[in-house]
Amino acid sequence: MSQKLLPVEPFDLSIFGATGDLALGKLLPSLFHRWCDQQIPESSKIIAVALDNIDTPAFRELVRQRYADNHEGHLEEDATWHAFAERLTYVRLDAVDPSADWEAFAAAFGESERLRLFYLALPPSLYAPVSENLARHGMNVPGSRIVLEKPIGSNFHAAREINQRVGKVFGEDSIFRIDHYLGKESVQNLLILRFGNWLFEPIWNATGIDHVQITVAESVGAGARAAYYDRAGALRDMVQNHLLQLMCLVAMEPPSDLEADTVRTEKLKVLKALRPIRSEDMSEKVVRARYSPGAIKGQAVPGYENELGHSSQTETFVAIKAEIDNWRWAGVPFYLRTGKRMSRRYSEIVIQFKPVPHDVVQADSGEIHPNRLVIRLQPDEGVRLMLMTKDPGPGGVRLRYVPLNLSYADTFEKNYPDAYERLLMAVIRGNLGLFMRRDEVESAWRWTDRILQSWTDMPNSLFNYPAGTDGPAESALLLAKDNREWFDENRT
Ligand code: BG6
Repeated sequence: MSQKLLPVEPFDLSIFGATGDLALGKLLPSLFHRWCDQQIPESSKIIAVALDNIDTPAFRELVRQRYADNHEGHLEEDATWHAFAERLTYVRLDAVDPSADWEAFAAAFGESERLRLFYLALPPSLYAPVSENLARHGMNVPGSRIVLEKPIGSNFHAAREINQRVGKVFGEDSIFRIDHYLGKESVQNLLILRFGNWLFEPIWNATGIDHVQITVAESVGAGARAAYYDRAGALRDMVQNHLLQLMCLVAMEPPSDLEADTVRTEKLKVLKALRPIRSEDMSEKVVRARYSPGAIKGQAVPGYENELGHSSQTETFVAIKAEIDNWRWAGVPFYLRTGKRMSRRYSEIVIQFKPVPHDVVQADSGEIHPNRLVIRLQPDEGVRLMLMTKDPGPGGVRLRYVPLNLSYADTFEKNYPDAYERLLMAVIRGNLGLFMRRDEVESAWRWTDRILQSWTDMPNSLFNYPAGTDGPAESALLLAKDNREWFDENRT
């Protein structure tokens, strides 16, 4: 089937924090790609807002240079690029200052009937003041939408305050809270894999499943975002949003349809059923750690504190044994793990099924391993179902554990838009299904806050792992205590 691009209506999109890493590294290249695919109507405008003292031509050049640094082609001679650059206007504005002059900003927009979008690529502490200033200057005309990056706040109370204050300016249906994992092709496929196949659902529960592992491993360090990251840490940066969202998609009940609120309500039920981790259970269920100097692919890598240039108690790795208190998942742990500077970059969900109830083969034929569904989110997206088979040929029964392999690259000959491209177009189309609802965000924070509080009470609970490894020994122990181990494709 050929790829279908749904056209979007003309829009005026303003990006606050337009000279920052997110805007230059992700948002503007994503918009350019959608432009190249002719999905963006010509009359659309992109209004870039930041504090830098530059003008529109200098901003366009900044975008071009940054794009050329990360992609093939320099674009100087590229007519498509020049046509896209024409859509960009730069406005210098301190959007937090209530007394700033918003005239140039307001003038950059088209008629008020056009779809207006405000993307806050800013620290969460600025979401409420900037929204309030948008209202003060009459920019939030009916139908306009605001986009907020994760994490929304740094704890439950901060998130609730942001949600309340932004909610006074924009209705819940006009607030698009980004978790870019929800825009990934392979994450969207989770719903279809679960609910488009009869095969899995009857055993997708405590009867059929032994446990679930969710790993989001990165080989990069905190890098240019160190100032933000050191305040956040892996729990706030990755677990509260990306990993919990993935867990929800694996654990939720079948929705009656794929409407935004139907799916979001089912995800919310999972978050609400998450068993709070009490401080006395922390050492049994949570591991936090920080990378020390090591090597990745033969290259020496400094430790987190060396990179930062000062001492820090921030975790760059966290592993958690999470439990969901409902009928479907009683007794089925969800092991969550994420870290920076690990041996390689990959994100994967492993569903480990129960062992067969009775072994019919003789011991010298080999071991029967439980089935495993390995959903690779990135890179090399795909799904592998690990099955037991007989090694073909004479000489008795010899068992083999082999994958039934669905590789996206081999099966589908097409390039699909990356997460931000998809999410930006979803905002313009008003598709809330790929975004987090207020109650989901707040529920996720309630659960995460207890862990954060325990860490504050037990500041010594930070382990070390050398950069380039799979985390500290304590992470392996977390599973070993339950007679399990992290799945490693190189070992299995
Ligand atoms: C972001 C985090 O949300 O996700 C980053 O803030 C992290 O710290 C990034 O590096 C990982 O995203 P991806 O798509 O590369 O897995």
